[in-house]
Amino acid sequence: MTIRKRPLGTLGVEITGIDVGSDLTGSAGDNLFGELRQAWQEAGGLMVIRDQSITQEQHIEFSRRFGPLFHDEGQPPLQDTVSRYLHPVHPQIYRVSNKVDAQGESQGRARAGTYWHSDVSFRDRPAQASVLYAIEIPPYGGDTIFADMAAAYDALSDGMKAMLSGLKAVHDFAVAAATQYARPIVVDKDFNGANRCVHPVVRTHAETGRKSLYVNPGFTSHLEGFTMEESKAILDTLYRHATQPEFLYRHSWQPHDLLVWDNRQLMHYAVSDYSADRYMERTTVIGERPV
Ligand code: SIN
Repeated sequence: MTIRKRPLGTLGVEITGIDVGSDLTGSAGDNLFGELRQAWQEAGGLMVIRDQSITQEQHIEFSRRFGPLFHDEGQPPLQDTVSRYLHPVHPQIYRVSNKVDAQGESQGRARAGTYWHSDVSFRDRPAQASVLYAIEIPPYGGDTIFADMAAAYDALSDGMKAMLSGLKAVHDFAVAAATQYARPIVVDKDFNGANRCVHPVVRTHAETGRKSLYVNPGFTSHLEGFTMEESKAILDTLYRHATQPEFLYRHSWQPHDLLVWDNRQLMHYAVSDYSADRYMERTTVIGERPV
């Protein structure tokens, strides 16, 4: 079988001509997955697979090809705040949705990720990939924007690269918990130290060896060894730089899109500009400790 690939900006690839629910079995499936994974990495970390019709089990199986998932047996859970949004049978699936059922209960986390972030960067072993499946999308809006943190790093001056080399940043779930979107739902249990850690400001990709900025406004609290004021000035400069249009790709969802993004080299932002129903399901692949 031949899969078709079309570049998306500087950081992604669109894939058509594959059914991930049925084409990835056996050794032919292993080869095909290898081709997908290579295309994903060569493109810069975003893969948009169109027209998928998959069950929750197939979504999980496909995601596990990238690595173990949060909530897999023996693996850590996501932060407790989102536990009420996990699928009741498949806790690996985090439901991202503004829909409510007949009793007025949320069917998922509304307006998740409405700020620039890299998933779960507040853990020692943050997310490698996130795999988000669009089941229902609004007629207009609800796009997700991705920022290419490797291209942003490459474009920095030598002076800035030298200054950032060796710096470390504190990532803390408390930063996101303070936003207007998260504040009403956070639970105390998430502040017991498990959701706070230190990572290098510039990380080297485990598969490609490429360097990228690894700080994000959603979860990065400050730079180690700097005052909050100094830290804010440096981080704001990096965020302004990384979110210039040249480093961005804006995804307008189609129903049954399956997106895989690499949190090691991309930040993303879910645009909250819609009122119609939006229902998506996400799995989150655990990555390595950033170096
Ligand atoms: C997320 O941050 O995982 C949610 C992205 C989205 O809803 O577009």
